[in-house]
Amino acid sequence: LKKISRQYAKSAAPVRRAAVIGAGVMGAGIAYQSALRGVPAILKDVSDKALDAGMAEAQKLLAKQVEQGRLSLDRADAIAAAITPSLTFDGFGSVDVVIEAIVENIDIKAAVFRQIEGIASAETILASNTSSLRIADLADGLRHPENFIGMHFFNPVPKMALVEVVRGPKTSEAAVATIVGYASALGKTPVVVGDCPGFVVNRVLTPYLIAFLHLVRDGVDFHHIDRVMEGFGWPMGPAYLIDVIGLDISHHVAEIVSAGFPERMAASHPSAIDILLADGRLGQKNGRGFYLYARDPKGRPR
Ligand code: NAI
Repeated sequence: LKKISRQYAKSAAPVRRAAVIGAGVMGAGIAYQSALRGVPAILKDVSDKALDAGMAEAQKLLAKQVEQGRLSLDRADAIAAAITPSLTFDGFGSVDVVIEAIVENIDIKAAVFRQIEGIASAETILASNTSSLRIADLADGLRHPENFIGMHFFNPVPKMALVEVVRGPKTSEAAVATIVGYASALGKTPVVVGDCPGFVVNRVLTPYLIAFLHLVRDGVDFHHIDRVMEGFGWPMGPAYLIDVIGLDISHHVAEIVSAGFPERMAASHPSAIDILLADGRLGQKNGRGFYLYARDPKGRPR
């Protein structure tokens, strides 16, 4: 893998400036990681509340680096200044890469990409952080599908090494090389994967999470399942993992991947996710999921 990445990285166009759309769990992490590794980023959202929360998250990550002695205060301030919060598309004309990290909905994402194409330069690479949607479907109707690609980070972005680089049917080799190079520059491990609902990770993960939901429907206590899987050696059990991902995102991903491969993974409804979502529980992001995160939203569950 390292050899393939190095080969791609050789022909990669340098990414000097990036823009990230969506300042949520993923977008804030991506903008932080980019700035940390020397690529200034615009962080755009439609909600000023979400933008403030995204910038606060980046500040928190920087403060942690300072606390741990990995960054000086001056350096942390300089990195924070390299993230430009924005509610508009100002500056999008001069970025090399745009990474979209908004809601997992094909119509909303497609509309945003069409809008960006009208603003960004024809050479700008447009990347989606989608967890499950096909790149071919998102690229449909774009003027430059050759510059369109999947760049799938994992949560939490600063910690997780893997980036799935998803090559759509029309994605150019140059775009693949640029994104492999950019992911490497961010300190990540890019792996080029094919285009299908869920790519590799979520095709493997979705049947596991569906099996978990079936067990919960059968009446097995989710705490018990988490303890068993953690005892088995996994870093976290499925209920806690769904809380980390977000119940809304997990729901959308399960729908998309199981619709793509209905003969292989059958969901049953209402699942525990459906029931918790109807109660407004989104997971760690709003402090309520399978577990309650009353004191520290990122802490281990009570
Ligand atoms: P989130 O719900 O935390 O954040 C989404 C953000 O996008 C919100 O701040 C919202 O205000 C903003 N937004 C919505 N429409 C917008 C628009 N038109 N323009 C600008 N901003 C807009 O969602 P999260 O978890 O960050 O997920 C975002 C994407 O990343 C999804 O496609 C998801 O599938 C993918 N992803 C999520 C992972 C996870 O573990 N949560 C892991 C890997 C990928």
